[in-house]
Amino acid sequence: MRKIVVLVSGNGSNLQAIIDACEHQSLENTRVALVVSNRKAAYALERAQLANIPTLYFPLQPFLTAPSDDNNAKAVHNKRARYDAALADAIKSALSGIEPDLIVLAGWMHILTAEFLNKFPDKVINLHPALPGAFDGANAITRALEAFKRNEIKHTGVMVHYVIPAVDRGKVIVITKVPINQKDTLADLELRIHNVEHTLLIDGIRLVLGYC
Ligand code: GRF
Repeated sequence: MRKIVVLVSGNGSNLQAIIDACEHQSLENTRVALVVSNRKAAYALERAQLANIPTLYFPLQPFLTAPSDDNNAKAVHNKRARYDAALADAIKSALSGIEPDLIVLAGWMHILTAEFLNKFPDKVINLHPALPGAFDGANAITRALEAFKRNEIKHTGVMVHYVIPAVDRGKVIVITKVPINQKDTLADLELRIHNVEHTLLIDGIRLVLGYC
C-alpha cells in the first residue's frame, strides 16, 4: 500500500480528488496516510476527518513570534527554516517513522525551504494553476485572466511539478493548457481550472508512483 501525505491550506477540493481516486481505484493500492494544514479553519481538514484520515494542524505563527536577537530578514528566514525542519519532523513522527511514498502540496500556501525538502528528497510534488514560468506564486489565475484581457496570452494552464526551493520552478511532471474565453469572469476561469486540476493531479500522482 503506497502512502501519500497531503499538505493543504484551504478548501481541499484537490485533496478530495485524491481521496476519491484512492477509494475508486484510479489510485490503486494507495491511501492518504496524513493530511497536514497550516490553517486551522481549512475546510480540507474536515474533508480528511470525514474520510477517517489522520490530520495534523501545524501553524507557522508560533515560530514567527518566538523570541530572537533581532528582527531582520535573516532572522525571519531562520524562523521559517526552523518551522520547515520541525514540520518535516512532525510528519515523520505522525507516521510513526514510516516513510511516505509521496508528499503532495495541494493548495499549500507556504513556500518550503531546503530544510523540509532535503528530508524528503524527490518525494514532494506541487499542483500549480498556471503554465511553467508563466505566473509563479500566488493569485496565478487572477493574473492569467488580467494578462488575457491585456491580450498578452491566449490561454493558461495547470501543471504538476517536483518542488524545489525556487517557487513553482521544479521539473514538470504533467501539464495541460486551459482555454480562456472572452466573456470569462474570474469565477468562470477558476471553475474551469479547478475541474482540470482534479484530473491532472491524479495523472501526476499515478506517473510519479509508477502506475503508468
Ligand atoms: C488550487 O488551484 C491549486 O492549484 C492552488 O491552490 C488551489 C487549491 O484548491 N495551489 P483546493 O484547496 O484544492 O480546492
